[in-house]
Amino acid sequence: MIRRRTLLLGLGAGAVLAHPLRPLFATTAAPAMAAMAAHGMDDMVNYSGPTDLAPLSSLPIHRPLKPLPRLTNRARRDGLFRSKLVAAPARLKLGTLPPTSVFAYNGMTPGPLIELYEGDQVEIDFFNRLPQSSTVHWHGLTIPADQDGAPQDYIPAGGQRRYHFTLPQGSAGTHWYHPHPHMMTAEQVYRGLAGAVIVRQRNDPLQHIPEQELFITDLKMAADGSIPPNDRDDWMNGREGQFVLINGLHMPLITLVGTQRWRIWNACSARYLKLSLGGLEFSLVGTDGGLLSAPVHGLTELLLAPAERAEIIVSAPRNGPSRIQLIAEPYDRGAMGRLAGPSRRRVLADIDTVYTEEALRTIPDTLRPISPLGTPTAEHMVAFSDYVDVDAPPPSNPYERPQDMLFLVNGQAYDMERIDIEGRLGEVEEWTIINASSMGMEHPFHIHGGHFQVIERNYDGITTPEPFLAWRDTINLKAGESATLRMRIDEPGLRMFHCHILEHEDLGMMGNLMILPK
Ligand code: C2O
Ligand code: CU
Ligand code: CU
Repeated sequence: MIRRRTLLLGLGAGAVLAHPLRPLFATTAAPAMAAMAAHGMDDMVNYSGPTDLAPLSSLPIHRPLKPLPRLTNRARRDGLFRSKLVAAPARLKLGTLPPTSVFAYNGMTPGPLIELYEGDQVEIDFFNRLPQSSTVHWHGLTIPADQDGAPQDYIPAGGQRRYHFTLPQGSAGTHWYHPHPHMMTAEQVYRGLAGAVIVRQRNDPLQHIPEQELFITDLKMAADGSIPPNDRDDWMNGREGQFVLINGLHMPLITLVGTQRWRIWNACSARYLKLSLGGLEFSLVGTDGGLLSAPVHGLTELLLAPAERAEIIVSAPRNGPSRIQLIAEPYDRGAMGRLAGPSRRRVLADIDTVYTEEALRTIPDTLRPISPLGTPTAEHMVAFSDYVDVDAPPPSNPYERPQDMLFLVNGQAYDMERIDIEGRLGEVEEWTIINASSMGMEHPFHIHGGHFQVIERNYDGITTPEPFLAWRDTINLKAGESATLRMRIDEPGLRMFHCHILEHEDLGMMGNLMILPK
C-alpha cells in the first residue's frame, strides 16, 4: 500500500465551507490512478484476503431470469396488504458448492417482492429469528418515522413486531427493504437480507409496457461455500462479492421481446454498477422516487451507486444482433487495496432480443408533473470524511472490526443518542452534501423519510445545475464533490442519513435527523 492520508477528524462544517474544496482534495486522484495501474484490473486475480474465494464457475449461469417471487397478500379486502416476513438463518445449496448458510427473508434471498399500490394500508408482521437484533427499513417508502426500522427501534433476536403504514398518493416507485440494526446492517445484508418493493399507481402512464425486475446484489463466497465475514479491505472499501446476481441468479439469460420497462435496483453493499447494453440506446423514465416528468431518451450508460434504483425502457433492436449483453462497465470509485482501480468490465447477463412490430410500445412524452420545491427556509450541511491508516500492521485476526478506520459525518462518528440535525415538519430545507474524502473515495449519500430534488452539483470548480427534475433518495458524490438538494419531510420524528456503502455506515458514517413538529 502506498497511500497514507492525513486525518480529517474534527473537520467541522465551518472549516469545510471556509476552504475551497478542490485545491484541498484535487491532489488525491493522481496517485490513486497510479496505484490502480500497478494493481491491474481484475479483482479476482488480485484477491489477497484471508479467505479462498469460490471460483466463478461454481455458480451456474444462463438460467432464465424470472420475476421475483411475490409476498402473498393475506388480506381479504381491497386496499389492505397484510402479510408476514420472517428473517431467519437458512441453508441453501448454491451451484456445485456445499450448502451455504445465509440469512433469508421467508426462506429466500433476495427476499420476496412486496407489490403494493398507492393508498394501500400495509400491515407486515415481522419475526426476527436471527441470532441477533434486526429491523426492517423500508428504503424509499414515505412512511412514519416509528415504522421505518431505525436502529433505535430494534427487534431483539427472537422478537417480533408489526410494521403498519399507509402509502400516500404520489409514492409509487421502485423501492426496497433491508435490515438497519446498529453496526450490523452490512453483515445482515451481505448474508442475504434484502428484498424489493414496488409501489404502483392506479393510472400508470407506462402500464401498456411489460415489465421485468432486475434486483442486483453481489455475493462474496468462500471456496467451501460459506459466506466469510468482512476482512479489512471489505471494511475499508465496502464489500464487493465476486458473484453479481440478478434476482439471485448468476449471469442469467434475459429475454427482451419488443419494448420492456426494466426496474433496476442496486442492492449491493458497495459495488457501483455502470450499466450498459453494449451500446444499445434506452430511455430513463424513473429514479429512486418514481417516474420522471418526461423520459430521457438516447442513453447508453447508467450509473447506479449502491441503493440507487432506476426504471428504463428498452426495445429489442430491429437489425441488431439477437444476443446482446447487460454489462457492468469499469468504474473507478476510489477503492483501495484489493479493489484498487476500476473493476474489470463484466457481463452481468446475456439478453436474447426478439424484435416484433406488435410488441413495440411508444413512451408517452410526459409521465407526471414534478414541480420544483420552493424557496428553502433552512439550510443543513453534511460533510463526509474518512481516514484509514493504510500502513497499520495487519491485525492478528483478519476479520476483526477495525478500530482505526474513521468514517465520519461532520467530523463525528454516529451516535444513536445524538441528534445531529434538526428539521421542521413540512418545510422545504436545503441540504449541502460534501464528500471530503481524504482517500479519494466516492460515497453515496442516502436519507430516510422522503425524496429530494437535486439542485446542482459542484465538482472540480465547475457548478452543474441538475439537468432534469427527479425525485431521489440516494445521490453519489465523488471525492471533492458537493451537491445541493432540497427536501421536505411530511412526518415528524427521527430519521437517519448516511453513506449507503453499508460498511461505512456501520463504521460511523451516519447521522440522526430529528424532524420537529411545527
Ligand atoms: Cu437503505 Cu438507511 O438505508
Ligand atoms: Cu433508507
Ligand atoms: Cu462511504
